[in-house]
Amino acid sequence: MKIISIVCQKGGVGKTTSVVNISSLLANKGFKVLIIDLDPQGNVSTYLDKSKDGINHTISSDLFENKNIGNILNINNNLHLIPSNESISKYNEEKIVAGSKLQFLRDNEIVHKYDFVLIDTPPTMSSLVQEGLAVSDFYLIPAKPEFLAVEGIGQAMNFAKKTIANVAKVDTKFIGVLLNQVDVRRTSYKDFYAELKQILGESLLKTFISQSTEIADSPFYAKTVLDFPSTSKAFQEYKDLTQEILERVEV
Ligand SMILES: Nc1ncnc2c1ncn2[C@@H]1O[C@H](COP(=O)(O)OP(=O)(O)OP(=O)(O)O)[C@@H](O)[C@H]1O
Ligand SMILES: [Mg+2]
Repeated sequence: MKIISIVCQKGGVGKTTSVVNISSLLANKGFKVLIIDLDPQGNVSTYLDKSKDGINHTISSDLFENKNIGNILNINNNLHLIPSNESISKYNEEKIVAGSKLQFLRDNEIVHKYDFVLIDTPPTMSSLVQEGLAVSDFYLIPAKPEFLAVEGIGQAMNFAKKTIANVAKVDTKFIGVLLNQVDVRRTSYKDFYAELKQILGESLLKTFISQSTEIADSPFYAKTVLDFPSTSKAFQEYKDLTQEILERVEV
């Protein structure tokens, strides 16, 4: 079982899109995958057209409340979801202590049945993000290829490093930076890429995800890249990305 958090304080960089599509591809490969949404926006549910409320299943605020996992929402055989809603916001105020409130997940029998747990986090530098980081084996930072993103990536990396040093009991490792919504035709892209590569070296993922109208439209229709033709660029890129992540986490 490997827990991976997707983090970045910048909004709209593709955290949720990455969580949903990477999880779907891992599940499609035969891995058992659990998504835990720690974002009060609850976007994973919207994306997958699932309820955010937990009358018959566990929601992410339950994890903070009773440290217990009951019924888990099924997306399909291999892909399950612990959704989120605004009720989790109240746990955002609390100062997190060594090990975090979600530490129990690492020893939980149900969680151990999964090969991967992917955690979606809010666009903040807050305790909810720290909770995710503190229980994760790995974290991934998505970013848009914009000039100002360089600063944002640095801030996200510093926040993660500080969190891991101060509150994580595990040695949470950096998978790297994923460039999302790339338009290689933009004049500035080459310069941006060269600068980022110089700063990040191997921490910049080889695979990037292009700007795509199919991906932009997919939450409207509750689609993942698995619903796209296998010849589509978005499908191929996410397939390559999933493979690169598997290599980086040594599966
Ligand atoms: N490669 C892409 N091409 C086109 N649109 C994309 C791409 N990736 C993401 N988007 C769109 O950009 C928007 C933001 O993506 P997403 O919600 O995944 O970002 P986020 O980082 O989770 O946002 P937030 O910080 O609010 O949680 C969404 O409408 C999504 O459909
Ligand atoms: Mg999101």
